[in-house]
Amino acid sequence: MNYKVPFVNFPEHYKRIRKEVLEEMDDVLSRGDLILRKDVEEFEKNIADFVGTKYAVGLNSGTDTMFLPLKALGIGPGDEVITVSHTFVASLAVIVQAGAKPVLVDVKEDFTMDLDKVEELITEKTKAILPVHLNGRVCGMDRLMEIARKHNLIVIEDAAQAIGAKYNNQMAGSFGLVGSFSLYPFKILGCFGDGGVLTTNDGILAEKIRLLRDHGQRSKTEIVCFGWNSRLDNLQAAVLNIKFKYLPDWIKKRREIASLYNKALENVSGVKTPPGPDSDNKHFDNFQNYVLKAERRNELAEFLRKKGIETLVKDPIANHKQRGLGLSHFNLPYSEKLADEVISLPIYPELTAEQISYVITSVKEFYNK
Ligand SMILES: Cc1ncc(COP(=O)(O)O)c(C=O)c1O
Repeated sequence: MNYKVPFVNFPEHYKRIRKEVLEEMDDVLSRGDLILRKDVEEFEKNIADFVGTKYAVGLNSGTDTMFLPLKALGIGPGDEVITVSHTFVASLAVIVQAGAKPVLVDVKEDFTMDLDKVEELITEKTKAILPVHLNGRVCGMDRLMEIARKHNLIVIEDAAQAIGAKYNNQMAGSFGLVGSFSLYPFKILGCFGDGGVLTTNDGILAEKIRLLRDHGQRSKTEIVCFGWNSRLDNLQAAVLNIKFKYLPDWIKKRREIASLYNKALENVSGVKTPPGPDSDNKHFDNFQNYVLKAERRNELAEFLRKKGIETLVKDPIANHKQRGLGLSHFNLPYSEKLADEVISLPIYPELTAEQISYVITSVKEFYNK
């Protein structure tokens, strides 16, 4: 279907950076710099400086940027990791694939981990907490780090959606031992395929991950451990270095759109808007997603679809209620309720003023019918 307002608009996004990107790709290809060359190094430096950590390591996905640290840290069978169910399934999958057990906790109204419920879940098997900064809103990291320190737990931040988001003026991905970012194409900083980057201040861990991403090869002749192939492509890194320059502007634009949506929709009965960009002085959200809680959510999605507006209903079944995952013993009332209510509206810098106002008018029309 040809939407008037598509949920994402990659062609328009590409059009705006096409010239620069093609020149850069031509340069990389002409140099023949395809695997772990200077563009990856430059990108890692860009990210470490931006997030405020000593190191960044480029990997092949935002999944591996959590999985490889778990393996590197020896978290596996017999261990427990506390995380949320209301997230993309990758946050749970990495724990299971590492051989450990995910222990799930409910989320609060703003979709971040309910920290009031974390301590009661800590046992002698708990090794780590994996908070998720969903939609680009950072979890209450001061309190979470306090809990982690008290119980001697590792923190891996799932900041897949949170590049450039801050809490107390500190960047997502710089609080825990590891910050994990996805570079999936539709993320705010996305490449043209799969990619991920992790941040850390721990030099030994960074070095270990560099080995694990490249089959444990320290040099052409020395292999120090078994690893995986999880390298960030050099070509993708070169594209990311171009996009990186625009990141602050793109976040600014998203925050402006979120503000427009919020102002227009906050008094519409039937929907609950997310906290706005200026709702408190602790959070600086990047609005990777703009998520409404909506009464008659499925009907709203269908109404908007008929009007040519594409929305996303990502998790109509809570992850722990997915039959194949074996996690249905968890009782997480708020996460289960959210599965019936959440709907994401289009939000990206390329949206026009007309499109934004059309989305607003259409949502209002649905609830005033
Ligand atoms: C919250 C969250 N965690 C993890 C991931 C996994 O990232 P990737 O798709 O790059 O492996 C994503 C990607 O959408 C995500 O949104």
